[in-house]
Amino acid sequence: MRFTFGAFALLAGSLVFGAPPGNPQQRGLLTLLETRDVAPGEHVDLDLEARADDTSGNLVARAPTCNTPSNRACWSTGFNINTDYETSTPTTGVTKFYTLTLTEVDNWVGPDGVTKKKVMLVNGKILGPTIVADWGDFIQITVINNLRTNGTSIHWHGMRQFGSNLQDGANGVTECPIPPKGGSKIYKFRASQYGTSWYHSHFSAQYGNGVVGSMQINGPASLPYDIDLGVFPITDYYYRTADELVLFTENNGAPFSDNVLFNGTNVHPVTGVGKYANVTLTPGKRHRLRLINPSTENHFQLSLVGHDMTIISSDLVPVNAMTVSSVFLGVGQRLDVTIDASKTPGNYWFNVTFGGQNFCGGSQNPTPAAIFHYAGAPGGLPTNKGVAPVDHQCLDLLNLTPVVTRSVTPGGFNPNPGNTLPVTIDLSGTPLFVWKVNGSAINVDWNKPVLDYVLTGNTSYPPRNNLIQVNSVNQWTYWLIENDPDGPFSLPHPIHLHGHDFLIVGRSPDVTPGSQTRFKFNAATDNARLNGSNPARRDVAMLPAKGWLLIAFKTDNPGAWLMHCHIAWHVSGGLSVDFLERPADLKAGISAADKAAFNQNCAAWRAYFPSQDPFPKIDSGLKMMKHKYVV
Ligand SMILES: *[C@@H]1O[C@H](CO)[C@@H](O)[C@H](O)[C@H]1NC(C)=O
Ligand SMILES: *[C@@H]1O[C@H](CO)[C@@H](O)[C@H](O)[C@H]1NC(C)=O
Ligand SMILES: *[C@@H]1O[C@H](CO)[C@@H](O)[C@H](O)[C@H]1NC(C)=O
Ligand SMILES: *[C@@H]1O[C@H](CO)[C@@H](O)[C@H](O)[C@H]1NC(C)=O
Ligand SMILES: *[C@@H]1O[C@H](CO)[C@@H](O)[C@H](O)[C@H]1NC(C)=O
Ligand SMILES: *[C@@H]1O[C@H](CO)[C@@H](O)[C@H](O)[C@H]1NC(C)=O
Ligand SMILES: *[C@@H]1O[C@H](CO)[C@@H](O)[C@H](O)[C@H]1NC(C)=O
Repeated sequence: MRFTFGAFALLAGSLVFGAPPGNPQQRGLLTLLETRDVAPGEHVDLDLEARADDTSGNLVARAPTCNTPSNRACWSTGFNINTDYETSTPTTGVTKFYTLTLTEVDNWVGPDGVTKKKVMLVNGKILGPTIVADWGDFIQITVINNLRTNGTSIHWHGMRQFGSNLQDGANGVTECPIPPKGGSKIYKFRASQYGTSWYHSHFSAQYGNGVVGSMQINGPASLPYDIDLGVFPITDYYYRTADELVLFTENNGAPFSDNVLFNGTNVHPVTGVGKYANVTLTPGKRHRLRLINPSTENHFQLSLVGHDMTIISSDLVPVNAMTVSSVFLGVGQRLDVTIDASKTPGNYWFNVTFGGQNFCGGSQNPTPAAIFHYAGAPGGLPTNKGVAPVDHQCLDLLNLTPVVTRSVTPGGFNPNPGNTLPVTIDLSGTPLFVWKVNGSAINVDWNKPVLDYVLTGNTSYPPRNNLIQVNSVNQWTYWLIENDPDGPFSLPHPIHLHGHDFLIVGRSPDVTPGSQTRFKFNAATDNARLNGSNPARRDVAMLPAKGWLLIAFKTDNPGAWLMHCHIAWHVSGGLSVDFLERPADLKAGISAADKAAFNQNCAAWRAYFPSQDPFPKIDSGLKMMKHKYVV
């Protein structure tokens, strides 16, 4: 029996079973696959995934692929690392199903032995299930909110949501929150990009209580490698609840984290309770590791004693391989790296260090670390402490070159009120810290999201939504973000945009954040600093303290897209705008079914909030803030 690739892909495309593994149909398929002839030299990837955390019990056969250890650039017929993924997506015919159930647990004993008063978990775990799909698959996720009083909405960080703005999971913007005590919602969108990302609650400070998980979209890569180690989330960890920390950070600086968890675990720095994350490397092999920073505040420098890392993707943008001895990973960012297990077999520390004079975070754990163990070597703790990497000064790399190029001509960029977004801190009221963009702190209305206005054609958008309407079609738009050059003090901010990967066209000169050196964009001198020739492109970029960042995105994706600081305490305090991109096209593109689902969820939420919720809304709604805001 012999299939052509095309025929097999077609067959694989229809193989999505609702029954648990082991039914006759599936056994039939397995037999079919096992007995298939393989031509000499042909690589067949019979990647049958039956995921324990996939409550639908799907068994999905992946199409055969030319993606091999020696040729990761290849993916499938007609699709490879050079394919423009914003215009071409493989048709897999596959939908991956997941169910995420949120619960609230009191007096929960954490991985390092400390009991937390309260956590909010996804499927009972500190890290929710990793959502895994192939490039081109649809992903359908049922979110069940079994929390006691909080609403929720889940944002699929970095997913472009091309044509599917309503699936973006930004409550108060693209949906009403999902009500607690059993409320549910089905999200469905296409994995049109590939690489590494994460998901998190966008309801107040909730993700800091544990409503977080990773995403892995398999696709081609810019460098060959042997082994994909999968996702490796590294996060700040606090013993106080996120709700307590929000109240604290409104009037105080962000506290150091109590610990840093690597892939959900670490030892307590004082008591020694807990386990180090322990990653096994296979000697002589090249490994891919998918680094994710799902923190609320800590930005990390990461290094592996004695080893380099080679960056192959930044956020969901594949880049030409670049080898470095350490990386900077801002909140919300991802870097896919390869690591060659080419050193003396043994155990090596993988370290987190903090740079930039702690202006972008610090921890009570003085040396957070994980173990990288060479298979076959004796166990035990690494002995070589290594050396601290060069200080990245809270800045990300600008010299990463995307494989699929995008170039713009920013020449002669002129700042004006229509393209400039000043970030400021307002210390004049209660609470002490209120973060504003262009003079206003965002305060979304959970009960009347921006999409409600779009769907009903009501253009009386309240100023509290911090909307920036953009009507141009398929044009590059430039946004100059200025970080409080004249304020009392300024912190670096990880700026995240929904719905687009943006080009980092330029930023102010690199200085230490502690120096608080003031830079204001000056067209006469700073235009020479801009680079529109396939510059770094991603979905989170660092805005330097007292400096500026110039980004560009193309108006090719109608939607209401937040752009916010990803430090939970700052977006909680108002640091966000909402680009309303082509509202007429947005409205025209929404199906009757999606509109009905939107309205149904809003009706359920409004029946609950505010009348049935024992707690008021006390923040921007996207994260949390006290006093300033009411319903
Ligand atoms: C969400 O739950 C937390 C923890 O119980 C609580 O502190 C907060 O006030 C709740 N917020 C809302 C709006 O229900
Ligand atoms: C992370 O933890 C999960 C669950 O414990 C494990 O399956 C996975 O292999 C770990 N990842 C790495 C890179 O070690
Ligand atoms: C790490 O894992 C390896 C392989 O399972 C094991 O041999 C080693 O003892 C572990 N190291 C520690 C410190 O637990
Ligand atoms: C790496 O972590 C280990 C274990 O915490 C520590 O002993 C060592 O000093 C750290 N090295 C660096 C460079 O931070
Ligand atoms: C612009 O940035 C890209 C990506 O890092 C780099 O390859 C290119 O050399 C830069 N061009 C200039 C003029 O700096
Ligand atoms: C900032 O606010 C000013 C004054 O309200 C307004 O004219 C300007 O268009 C706003 N800027 C942006 C980028 O929306
Ligand atoms: C439009 O929205 C505004 C602000 O929420 C509201 O006051 C007004 O009644 C709405 N208009 C219509 C026709 O619904």
